[in-house]
Amino acid sequence: MFGPHETNLATRRALSDRHVAYYRARASGGAGVIVVEEASVDDSDWPYERAPLAAHAAEGWSRISSACREEGALVIAALGHAGGQGSSAYHQRALFGPSRVPDVETREVPAAMEPEDVEKLVSAFASASAAAIAAGCDGVELNGGQHSLLRQFCSGLTNLRDDELGRDRAEFARRVLLATRGAVDHVASGAIVGLRLSCDELAPWAGITPQDATGLVTSLVQLGLDYLCVVRGSAFGTSATRPDGHVEPGFNRGSATMVRAVLPQGVALVAQGSIVDVALAEELIVSGEADLVEMTRAQIADPVLGKKVASGAVDHIRPCVLCNQTCRVRDVRNPLVTCIGEPRSGHETSEEIPERALVARGKAGSPGGRTSVLVIGGGPAGLECARVAAAVGHQVTLLERDQSLGGMVRVAARAPGRERLGALADWLEYECRHAGVRIVTGHEVTLEEIDDHEGPIVHCTGSRPGRRTFEVTSGAAIATAAEVLAAERRVAEPPPSPVVVWDPIGGPVGVGVAELLATHGAAVALVTPDHVVGEQLARTGDLAPANVRLQQRGVDLVRRSVLLQFGPLGATVEHRYSGERRLLDAVLCVDAGYLLPEDTLWRASGARQPRVGDAVAPRTIHEAILEGRRVALALGHEGSSGVPAASP
Ligand SMILES: Cc1cc2nc3c(=O)[nH]c(=O)nc-3n(C[C@H](O)[C@H](O)[C@H](O)COP(=O)(O)O)c2cc1C
Repeated sequence: MFGPHETNLATRRALSDRHVAYYRARASGGAGVIVVEEASVDDSDWPYERAPLAAHAAEGWSRISSACREEGALVIAALGHAGGQGSSAYHQRALFGPSRVPDVETREVPAAMEPEDVEKLVSAFASASAAAIAAGCDGVELNGGQHSLLRQFCSGLTNLRDDELGRDRAEFARRVLLATRGAVDHVASGAIVGLRLSCDELAPWAGITPQDATGLVTSLVQLGLDYLCVVRGSAFGTSATRPDGHVEPGFNRGSATMVRAVLPQGVALVAQGSIVDVALAEELIVSGEADLVEMTRAQIADPVLGKKVASGAVDHIRPCVLCNQTCRVRDVRNPLVTCIGEPRSGHETSEEIPERALVARGKAGSPGGRTSVLVIGGGPAGLECARVAAAVGHQVTLLERDQSLGGMVRVAARAPGRERLGALADWLEYECRHAGVRIVTGHEVTLEEIDDHEGPIVHCTGSRPGRRTFEVTSGAAIATAAEVLAAERRVAEPPPSPVVVWDPIGGPVGVGVAELLATHGAAVALVTPDHVVGEQLARTGDLAPANVRLQQRGVDLVRRSVLLQFGPLGATVEHRYSGERRLLDAVLCVDAGYLLPEDTLWRASGARQPRVGDAVAPRTIHEAILEGRRVALALGHEGSSGVPAASP
């Protein structure tokens, strides 16, 4: 299954062309069931700017159903209402909730629903469900997961009512289910009704626990439910529904097993939760723990995962590394869903498909004959550029200065919880070798080699340390974050201690290096100019968990402070607002600051050849891979603007 998720692909609250292409790509890639992004059942719910609304979704549902059915997949429309976890910013009305309990994140107090509001929403669920089936969907999935009014009614955290909807907290969900079943049966008998239910709110003082969930499920399954998808999370653990690599894959297994025990025959159990490895998915099915497996991020990372499994090409599946860097879309930038490893995800209508070229390779070769392409640098940009250039038929040589490939991806993978990133580097390397790229490591490219090469040259030379923003007394022990990460695993003895880490960025690097050193026994002070450590981690959902981990490991969080000087006595830091200075005891200073492009060779060779990724401007793996791919595809379109043509 491709599970329901917010994509930001909607326009004016309607499902768009982009949705159709996005889902078709997964259906043609082998997904058996596509659950379309949740639509609000009623206009009292507008939880994020581009949230679809059921009343505007019929045409989109119909187009998605036709597209995916042609590819052999079932289509389920996710339906829901975010209740008190919504937003009043768009519709400028009070939010609905079971009771007047302020939301943990927004602090907004919802209006407690009156009996007529309850009735209105029950029929909104029914009519939205009927509309989805009438539009051609095979079923509906009601959201009782983390961001949902259904869960808020089921939970002791938010349902404090003393009427019949509070005395039995499952009552609202029961009414919705009953009305939905009746409505869909009226349109098409045999339509599927699924329920996504938080079976662990991670707030045991009043929230749903896995034990409570068994009772809840028992009282709901009799009402014509076809499947149940066990999820976790609530307002108290919003990042817990789809945590990053710091949490073990398959984390919902225990809850799912408990719930399965009370499911009657004929109600399918859908397993969910960081199931990104095919082996785990298979184990869940073969062992009978689940009937279906939801692999959402895994199919954002590789839309053709299903087909690769079916054809025995499991080694070719592009891994989801659970980084959450670009598939989380609820942030101030309002980005489209995408993937660091597969930047075409979410951009299916504008970015070309390298895989299509891969299939064509060998049959057609390159129309204009094989061009000899030289890729300089074997980080993510260079590997993706080489992989795609080889896939479209070029003869590619990749030269890397280091002994190993992967560049900063390998370095970043040394931070705790980020180890899976290594799988992406492995995959890129494997695919390059498979596509016939000639790879030479330990090779420093010279200007003569550049002059002698006949054919395109792409510079993917990455980054170098940036300008130091603090003074260093000569002889003081200084290292970059990359140096510490790269060295850590090779060094057996404990790291130097105490250490000060200067992190003016607030991304995963500074936090990761502090965590790594603390885990290995160093006393660490992490200095940030921001109010919160790891500020940028809000985008990946790791902000709160990272702060918890750092504090549990005893890291001294030195906030709102700037590192001025490092010397034999330690690090001098200044508070940004009070100006107060203090000395932090440290024998090593780790600079996790900004990087600069490593473009020396590019400049020396005339600054005319294409360069991509960090060699242009140091950013993330996402931009490196995106630009590496774009340049490789443009090599096949000589004379074009350099921008690959849109795919159908
Ligand atoms: C971009 C993105 C948006 C999501 N939005 C929603 C959502 O709106 N509603 C929901 O119930 N789950 C949402 N999820 C959670 C997914 O449905 C799924 O439960 C989660 O990704 C864990 O499954 P996975 O590990 O297979 O990705 C979202 C996940 C992603 C990656």
